Amino acid sequence: MQDIRVSFQQLFNTTASLVVQSPGRINLIGEHTDYNNGFVLPAAIDKCVQVAIAKRTDGTIHMHAIDLQESVIIPAVAIQPHATSWVNYIIGVVVQVQKYNTSKSGSNASHEIDKGFDIGIQGDIPIGAGLSSSAAVECAVIFALNEMYQLGLTTMQMALMTQQSEHEFAGVKCGIMDMFASLHGKNNQVILLDCDSLQHSYYPLDLKDYQIVLFDTQIKHALASSEYNTRRLECEQGVEVLQQKYPSIKTLRDASKQQVDELLKTDTSMVGNKIYDRCKYVVDEIERVQLAVKDLLAGDIKAFGQKMFETHEGLSKLYEVSCRELDILVNAVKDNPHVLGARMMGGGFGGCTINIIKKSEVQAIIHQVAEVYAQQTAHTLKVHQVKIAQGTHIK
Ligand code: GLA
Repeated sequence: MQDIRVSFQQLFNTTASLVVQSPGRINLIGEHTDYNNGFVLPAAIDKCVQVAIAKRTDGTIHMHAIDLQESVIIPAVAIQPHATSWVNYIIGVVVQVQKYNTSKSGSNASHEIDKGFDIGIQGDIPIGAGLSSSAAVECAVIFALNEMYQLGLTTMQMALMTQQSEHEFAGVKCGIMDMFASLHGKNNQVILLDCDSLQHSYYPLDLKDYQIVLFDTQIKHALASSEYNTRRLECEQGVEVLQQKYPSIKTLRDASKQQVDELLKTDTSMVGNKIYDRCKYVVDEIERVQLAVKDLLAGDIKAFGQKMFETHEGLSKLYEVSCRELDILVNAVKDNPHVLGARMMGGGFGGCTINIIKKSEVQAIIHQVAEVYAQQTAHTLKVHQVKIAQGTHIK
């Protein structure tokens, strides 16, 4: 990437007061569990978004996306969602900061953010690949605003506020995982996050002779965000049924496999089998993450990888968020003895699979998978080899 301070100076004819860098993320295991208050095991990666920012005094926000060569200017107050998606990831965060300011000192108080700012943005996270480029933008923006206006937000508050921004300005009722991982990542460590208590612990990822490789379908089906929101609703519908008999169940995190079987499997007249399938997957996956962490701690990457295959099976057959292209990529490596695990990653309906592959075999396997993918689809495979890196920070 080019030096963003130089681009900023040229674009806005002023010096950036700070530059913030925020990473994308991978997720080892624990998919579609975050909004069900379960566990996830993500890590920040060495692909990131950078923002450069400086205050203005004329009540406008000037935004420039360097890679896209697009500029947008809006008034800094009474902000509404914009037709351009990258703009929403910035202004949605501004709105959250303004709400926070109002909650602290009332709507009549004046705040410096209302006077506007210049912001330049660039990055190398592939868009639509399921590596959370949007969360990285939101986290970079909130971190920069927090610093520039001395808001005193904790990184936990930032994670929750950017999640809210995604709900309100991007229309995706996402969980906390992406923002949390981007803000809290550490070099070479995966994060076990309990999405209920938000307690988290770090574990070194020692894959021995193996490494992580991402296979990118290079597609993103249009139904991704609507189906995502539907899955969330389906889980809530399941919880409503479970609650009638077990009032202490507030989310699927609180439900056991037995309770899901007892109330959702049999009662097809009331909820239909789809609800059972969704809830069964989630309850299984929440348990699977906890067992997978034990595998990791015991150094048993083979057992860990096996669980990744199980996750994919559940996401594909029960949760139905995979797609033909993702299934082709997982099937292409399933029986390969040098691939310990593979599964679709992130929200689904496109994006990447995450694979644990023997280092010495990586090139041969990439070649083989690319061939299968080209034969069976109209798309070209893209490969990302990522390292686990530090979370959001000042550059
Ligand atoms: C997307 C969402 C996350 C999470 C994953 C699925 O990345 O933004 O909150 O739900 O999908 O695990």
